[in-house]
Amino acid sequence: MKQITLINGDGIGPEISEAVVKIIDASGLKIDWDVQTAGEDVIEKEGVPLPERVLESIKKNRIALKAPVTTPIGKGFRSVNVQLRKSLDLYANLRPCKNLPNVKTKFDNVDIIVVRENTEDLYAGIERKIDDDTAESIKVITRKASERICKFAFDYAVRNNRKEVCVVTKANIMKLSDGLFLECFRNIASGYPQINKREILVDNLCMQLVQNPAQFDVLVLPNLYGDIVSDLCAGLIGGLGVAQGANIGENYAVFEPVHGSAPDIKGQNKANPTALLLSAIEMLKYIGESFYAVKIEQALFKTFSQYKFTRDLGGVLTTDEFTKEIISNLG
Ligand code: NAI
Repeated sequence: MKQITLINGDGIGPEISEAVVKIIDASGLKIDWDVQTAGEDVIEKEGVPLPERVLESIKKNRIALKAPVTTPIGKGFRSVNVQLRKSLDLYANLRPCKNLPNVKTKFDNVDIIVVRENTEDLYAGIERKIDDDTAESIKVITRKASERICKFAFDYAVRNNRKEVCVVTKANIMKLSDGLFLECFRNIASGYPQINKREILVDNLCMQLVQNPAQFDVLVLPNLYGDIVSDLCAGLIGGLGVAQGANIGENYAVFEPVHGSAPDIKGQNKANPTALLLSAIEMLKYIGESFYAVKIEQALFKTFSQYKFTRDLGGVLTTDEFTKEIISNLG
C-alpha cells in the first residue's frame, strides 16, 4: 500500500483533510496516510510549528498532501510553507486553473497552468535599510534556477498534451535579471520543437488575462510575477475555495490548496474541501494513480453539475453534506 504524508494543518485544515481522506477511501484506493501535525497547535507541545519529524516523514515518503497551516504573526517563527519549500528544494510551484462545472465566473474555457519559480527572485530575502528613508531589495535570478523551471514547464506541457508555453517577464526594463530568465527560456525551448513558444511582458499579460484568458495555456514565470499572476488566475476560476496547487522538486512533491487556514470559519462545518481535493487529484495523477484521480474528479464535477455547492460558492451544503454528495457520485 502506498504511504503518503498527510499534514492535516490547523484552522479548517483538519476538517477538509478528513473530507478528502474519506472521498479517496470511498473511491476504492487504499492509501496508508502518515498523518503529521504541524502549525499553531503543535507549537505549545513541540516548540516549533514545523517539527523535524514532518520533514523526515516527507523525505521518507517523497509525497505529501498538505492542508493549510497558520503562520503565527510576530512570534518569530518562519512560515511553515517557506520552510518546507526551502528544506525540500521544492523549486516549482504548479497552479492549474480550470473552469469547474456551474461555478460562476466571468469567463468560460479558462484552462491555464501557472508554473512559478519558487526559490529566488525578490523572495531571496536580501534586503537592507540604507537609511531611515531608503530601503533596497535585491532581485536574484540564476541560470540554474531559470533553466530548471523552464524545463519543468516544457516537460509538464509534453506530459499533459499542452500546446504552448509562454514565458512572462519584464525583460524590457530589467534587461539583466529578467533578460537572463528569458535567455534561459529560449535555450530550453529549442529542445521542444513540438510545443509552441510565446513571450509576453507581465503588464500586458495581466490585461490580456482579464480580457481574454482562454488564449493562454502554460505560463512560466519568475517568483514574484508568478505569485501575483497565480492569484489572479485563481480569481478567474472561482476563487480560493477551488484553487489547487503543488510544490514540486527533484525528489519530493507537496500538494496543497492555495488558500490559508481560514480561522474565521474554523470548526463550523462550512469549509469547502474542493481546493484540497483537486490538489489530491493532481497528486494521484503525479504518482500514477490516474484511474482513481479521474474517478474522483468525475464525482466532483457531477456534484457541481447537480448545483450542489458549499456556501462560499453560493450553495447551502455543509462540508460534511458536500463530502457525502461527492461520495454518492463515485458510482
Ligand atoms: P485564508 O485563505 O485562510 O482566508 C481568506 C478568506 O477566504 C476567509 O474569509 C476564509 O473564510 C475564506 N476561505 C479560505 N479557504 C476557504 C475554503 N476552503 N472554504 C471556504 N472559505 C474559505 O487567508 P487568511 O485569512 O489571509 O490567512 C489565514 C492564515 O492562513 C494565516 O495565518 C496565513 O498565514 C495562513 N496561510 C497559509 C497558507 C498555507 O498553509 N499554504 C496559505 C495562505 C495563508
